[in-house]
Amino acid sequence: MEELNGTPKFEIIKIGLSEIEQLREISIETFVETFKETNTQNNLQQFLNEAYSLDQLKSELENPNSEFFFAKFGYEIMGYLKINQGEAQKESIGHNALELERIYILNKFQGKKIGQILLDYTFEIAKKTNLDWVWLGVWEHNQRAINFYLKNGFVQFDQHIFTVGDDDQTDILMKLEVDKTKSYFTPF
Ligand SMILES: CC(C)(COP(=O)(O)OP(=O)(O)OC[C@H]1O[C@@H](n2cnc3c(N)ncnc32)[C@H](O)[C@@H]1OP(=O)(O)O)[C@@H](O)C(=O)NCCC(=O)NCCS
Repeated sequence: MEELNGTPKFEIIKIGLSEIEQLREISIETFVETFKETNTQNNLQQFLNEAYSLDQLKSELENPNSEFFFAKFGYEIMGYLKINQGEAQKESIGHNALELERIYILNKFQGKKIGQILLDYTFEIAKKTNLDWVWLGVWEHNQRAINFYLKNGFVQFDQHIFTVGDDDQTDILMKLEVDKTKSYFTPF
């Protein structure tokens, strides 16, 4: 709508079932951009077929403990976020924690603070929901993302296995306490 008035604006939008095709598209595009150099074509394809099939994404979108958000500028989707609470978390960290399962920005929009905005948005949700921790898993060799989390104060507390095709990879588990006194995110 905003384009009709000539001024596209930045927004974070909660994703519903009606956006499943766009979600699938950006999930695949960002995963391939990030991991194509470090996985075989077969493993990558197997992972995409399983993790980002329409059936799988539909069940995740319908899970009341999971939420997906797009970062958009006008009609353009620049990246997305997936967070889990309660039983949707991939590890039994506790009901006072929120899992940042996916944070992906398209290559061409990286380094423009969009990742930072989505991370701040995650913490604001955790704070409003009165949760104490945000945690995540990151591939041990994804140094850029690890640096991003370290810069934000995350610390390693464990590790788990993340399987891409037939390749069992090690994910570092990192966590950061939610500061209930802090204002993380100011709406635009
Ligand atoms: C990791 C990611 C989400 C960060 O988002 P981003 O929008 O690129 O990062 P931002 O612009 O918000 O930058 C925040 C900080 O990240 C780090 N960073 C950003 N771009 C960087 C780069 N090119 N090289 C190294 N560090 C970088 C910096 O510390 C930066 O802060 P500073 O520039 O003020 O010092 C994004 O790069 C991404 O989507 N990567 C590919 C997918 C991925 O690995 N996701 C995480 C899976 S666990």
